[in-house]
Amino acid sequence: MTTTHSDVTSDLQPALVVQGVRKTFEAELAPVRALRGVDLTVERGSFIALMGPSGCGKSTLLNLIAGLEEVDEGTINVAGESMSDGTEDTHALIRRKHIGIVFQFFNLLEGMSVLENVALPAIIAGKNRKSAESRARDLLDLLGIADKASEMPGVLSGGQRQRLAIARALANEPTLLLADEPTGALDSVGGQEVIELLSRLHAQGQTIILVTHDASVAKAADTVLRMRDGRILGDSDVVTNETVTAIGTL
Ligand SMILES: Nc1ncnc2c1ncn2[C@@H]1O[C@H](COP(=O)(O)OP(=O)(O)OP(=O)(O)O)[C@@H](O)[C@H]1O
Ligand SMILES: [Mg+2]
Repeated sequence: MTTTHSDVTSDLQPALVVQGVRKTFEAELAPVRALRGVDLTVERGSFIALMGPSGCGKSTLLNLIAGLEEVDEGTINVAGESMSDGTEDTHALIRRKHIGIVFQFFNLLEGMSVLENVALPAIIAGKNRKSAESRARDLLDLLGIADKASEMPGVLSGGQRQRLAIARALANEPTLLLADEPTGALDSVGGQEVIELLSRLHAQGQTIILVTHDASVAKAADTVLRMRDGRILGDSDVVTNETVTAIGTL
């Protein structure tokens, strides 16, 4: 494969740079200021856990990073490409190229086989079916569910379903894997499987941002950031993994 100049440039950029991001939602009673000035740089290869009380803006931040919602103010750059300037269409292209997303409730396509679920994002991104399915098989193998390739998602366990969702999120070799409470709907065994998998992906160099309410899950990350009231708490407030361990025992 040849490497173009722009690829080289984008490879040198941090996986993510968020600067001064604000987002307000209109609501019936009063506007909700979901993000009130978020700054965040994520270097390639890091594994960040984002924690904080319900409603503090964690999912909103992930949705903005993924270009699923538009910022009101501030900038977001993913691998040097802007997810804040430009149109929804350009954001969709950047998302396809650089971002994989895993949600709490899997969002699988129940009418398609396990293999088709994983191959689809690459087909949408323009790969031919054969190479998309070949990459999908490799991913299912990596994630330990290769034997389920021709099954429908409905027969999988919760942990297997989430591994399938992760395989699908990795289909286009994303710069950044975003996971919003991926263990939230799983029992402890399923949750553990998912965390071990994320740790393995991180060890292979995958950049990950993981939102979780569970301190024992956050321990898998190399940095834990805390959010409150639409802001990421400053360096002096950042909770270390030792603190998380302590909180987990309370
Ligand atoms: N589309 C929307 N319309 C109106 N308000 C919204 C919308 N999305 C989020 N909010 C509000 O923005 C705030 C932040 O929500 P967000 O979903 O980001 O929180 P969260 O930290 O992910 O919470 P949880 O831990 O419960 O998932 C909340 O007050 C929420 O009600
Ligand atoms: Mg949320």
